[in-house]
Amino acid sequence: MRVVLLTGKGGVGKTTLSAATALGAAAHGHRVFLLSTDPAHSVGDALGRPVGGRPVEVAPNVVAQEIAVLDEIERSWAPIQAWLRQLLREGADELVAEEILVFPGLEELVALRAIREVEALGDFDTCVVDCAPTGSTLRMLRFPDALAVFMGGLFDMERRAARIVKPILDRIGVHGLVPGDEVFAAFERLVRDVDDVRQILLDGDRTTARLVTNAARVVVDETRRSFAYLSLYGVATDAVLVNRLLPPTAQDGFFAKWVAREQTEIAALESAFGVPLLRAGLRPAEPIGPDALRALAREVYGDRDPAAILHHGRPLRWRRVGAKTLLEIALPNVSKEEIEVAVHGADLHLRVRDARRAIALPDSLVGRVIEGAQLRGATLVVTW
Ligand SMILES: Nc1ncnc2c1ncn2[C@@H]1O[C@H](COP(=O)(O)OP(=O)(O)O)[C@@H](O)[C@H]1O
Ligand SMILES: [Mg+2]
Repeated sequence: MRVVLLTGKGGVGKTTLSAATALGAAAHGHRVFLLSTDPAHSVGDALGRPVGGRPVEVAPNVVAQEIAVLDEIERSWAPIQAWLRQLLREGADELVAEEILVFPGLEELVALRAIREVEALGDFDTCVVDCAPTGSTLRMLRFPDALAVFMGGLFDMERRAARIVKPILDRIGVHGLVPGDEVFAAFERLVRDVDDVRQILLDGDRTTARLVTNAARVVVDETRRSFAYLSLYGVATDAVLVNRLLPPTAQDGFFAKWVAREQTEIAALESAFGVPLLRAGLRPAEPIGPDALRALAREVYGDRDPAAILHHGRPLRWRRVGAKTLLEIALPNVSKEEIEVAVHGADLHLRVRDARRAIALPDSLVGRVIEGAQLRGATLVVTW
């Protein structure tokens, strides 16, 4: 099943363009599931009809659903949270505990499990996801690393301790500090789910992200950063959608300067990424309802199939050249001062500005010294 993720800054038009993409794909003969994981659901507003926590057909061959993120979190995280809270009861007040207990990125990941459920239904060949604003989406991609650290540290320690200490504690009648079976089970489920979702998201033959932006400096700057971060985490972006462009008629009058600025930003966007830049003009009215959204999809995608992969690029690629092994990572709009590369044990640690990622090294490279790390154009090349 093809998965198209739309993300971008708040208010740029993610929901509107997600709905348009879904309807446009259906017009090309696809059976489409439109999923909203943004806790601030508004797919219903864009479609001009209610959509809720259960799948509902909103147009021929388009089914939509808004994931109840908090319920999902409650389901998978509650037993773990209860245990952690117990651990923290001594010394830590509830508010501090609360903060520690909320994993950044968990919400979005848990919501994205729904993609797997859609796939399991077998009735859809395309799933369009209206994601939370970029920040949450990126935290979500970082989450498995955070979880691994957490598991490797506290949880493993507790688990080992449990084997030795639990029987003793049980005998003397002290309970609660040692995680019970339901906590282990909840953790295992969570890890499995996270892994499944990650596999879908990182599979560039199935999943691509589309960054929605406006032609305004602040939004464009964020789009640049997001593109590099998505690439660092291994998610392929196959298009940038520039929404709400002013019409040419705005050139004479109050908006003249805005039009000129937009053109500057568009030029910057065009040279920034090497993926198709698709455009949607500011409509005279909010595009609400299937007809308006289909028209918007035609404007954005033209004759293209919105469900197609619009650009085949591998954000992260291993290559062998002679006796050397190369890791190539597309990092457009990043300067070499912003990158750090280091090996820790069996992992390559990459840092781009404030984003980090640990990449597991193939066995053949573990213990070997990196020969070099170079930024060649928009690609970081690490050589062994
Ligand atoms: N091309 C467009 N022309 C006119 N209005 C638009 C266009 N795209 C989006 N809008 C309007 O802008 C507002 C924000 O869009 P929305 O899709 O909800 O953004 P996001 O999901 O990124 O927060 C909505 O009122 C929507 O109808
Ligand atoms: Mg939205």
